[in-house]
Amino acid sequence: MSLISWTDDFSVGVESIDMQHKRLVEMINALNDACAKGQVDEVIGKVFNNLAVYTKKHFEYEETLFRETGYRDEAAHKQQHAQLIEQVSALKTKLDAGEQAIGDEVLAFLKKWLTEHIMKEDKAYSDHLIRNGIK
Ligand SMILES: [Fe+2]
Ligand SMILES: [Fe+2]
Repeated sequence: MSLISWTDDFSVGVESIDMQHKRLVEMINALNDACAKGQVDEVIGKVFNNLAVYTKKHFEYEETLFRETGYRDEAAHKQQHAQLIEQVSALKTKLDAGEQAIGDEVLAFLKKWLTEHIMKEDKAYSDHLIRNGIK
């Protein structure tokens, strides 16, 4: 079963961003599946790394749009992204050192983070980006 189910409630009204968010949902679900199937740490670690890399790319995409369109909450939003990147890299350090495994706690954190960030911070830029013709 999927950890997160995409619904149109998550849509920010910008197609390119919705596609990236859907991909992030899929990647967290893939991580959940890998854990549920009891995959070896190496496989789980790879799925986690893919998620971390894609998340960074996605943040860069949003931040480029903020810069190009002069989004007024750019600084605060970037701060949120930076915080998550930091949490994920701290997690990665622990995983690599074998001090932490990806389990329910980590998955719940990722789910909560992604869904809350989309619903709150990302939705807040919807009108601004749409007005600026971003698709
Ligand atoms: Fe986003
Ligand atoms: Fe964001």
